Amino acid sequence: EKCGYDHFMLKEIHEQPKSLKDVMSGRLNEFTGDVELKEMTLTRAEIGSLKRVIIIACGTSYHAGMMGKYAIESVTDIPVSVEIGSEFRYSSNRVGPETLIIAISQSGETADTVAAIKDARKKGSNVIAITNVVGSTISREADSTIYMRTGPEIGVAATKTFTGQIAVIYMIALYLGRARGNISPEDARSIISEMKSLSQKSKLVLEKEEYIANIARMFVNAPSFFFVGRNLNFPAALEGALKLKEISYIYSEGFAAGELKHGPLALLTTNIPVVAIATRCPTYDKMVSNIKEIKARDASVIAIASECDNKISQFVDLVIKIPDAGEYASPVLSSIALQLFAYYVARFRGCPIDKPRNLAKSVTVE
Ligand code: F6R
Repeated sequence: EKCGYDHFMLKEIHEQPKSLKDVMSGRLNEFTGDVELKEMTLTRAEIGSLKRVIIIACGTSYHAGMMGKYAIESVTDIPVSVEIGSEFRYSSNRVGPETLIIAISQSGETADTVAAIKDARKKGSNVIAITNVVGSTISREADSTIYMRTGPEIGVAATKTFTGQIAVIYMIALYLGRARGNISPEDARSIISEMKSLSQKSKLVLEKEEYIANIARMFVNAPSFFFVGRNLNFPAALEGALKLKEISYIYSEGFAAGELKHGPLALLTTNIPVVAIATRCPTYDKMVSNIKEIKARDASVIAIASECDNKISQFVDLVIKIPDAGEYASPVLSSIALQLFAYYVARFRGCPIDKPRNLAKSVTVE
């Protein structure tokens, strides 16, 4: 039940300090830098002979997959592509035994993702599934399944399962990197301790709920929204936009910040607010330049920024601060802030948050 929350979505947003802890429990060792994923069936030799990874998913899970690409390519020497389930099936991808397929699906029932992995397995690829539902179709079709241990998610909009998926894909990245000898135990340790800080830091984001709700209230009548970010913050921007459009019905779109000048800037007017994810990371300075381009069109900018950032407020209209965190942890925290933002915009607009029109929790048709 809703345990005193007005909606399942809000309850599930608030469960993230616990779900982020559960997903990593017993799987990450911050003293040795080892990752233990007992579910993985691949041998060290098989991991050593992998030539590529393809991540397959739909919707929110696809955004987690995009984060997985950044992570796997950073800590291993394996090239990664991310494919939408319904597109992968009709592409001429030549997969085989040297291709590892990672399928991400909260429900484990998404028809397009299931069909894609069946095809890939027939061609000899090893398939790892990431899901939340024990015994789901995807877990039966895959060679191995890594569960998110997130607990049931009732709200149609994925929240705690999204952050759970990111944690699992980061763990797989580290597992592959350690098995291939691409990442040192020291470097793995530092990513692990960053990941382990997420449970505590997500609590600090949730403490900003009222502040975020007040900002959301200012924008209930916006006709549309842009979300921008770079690097790992790009999929976080896409996810922020998806969450807002599905529950508030406000047209919103996410962009790689560097792409704005290649088209989308033409749409920007004073009444389209832009959410810019500008946390401290290697692309911070580039993000600030993008924010200046946006401000030059007089659009309102809401920045998601790091706690330590004292300078961002001079460039933007409003700032939502998240705890200082490394580049892997930070987009998870930004995503939680954006879940709250979408929730409150939808709530102030009187939308049926847990059951948005035309959407289903589990999409079993292709
Ligand atoms: C958005 C959302 C959907 C799902 C998508 C895939 O909040 O929930 O975009 O992410 O339908 O579903 P799963 O992960 O069950 O395969």
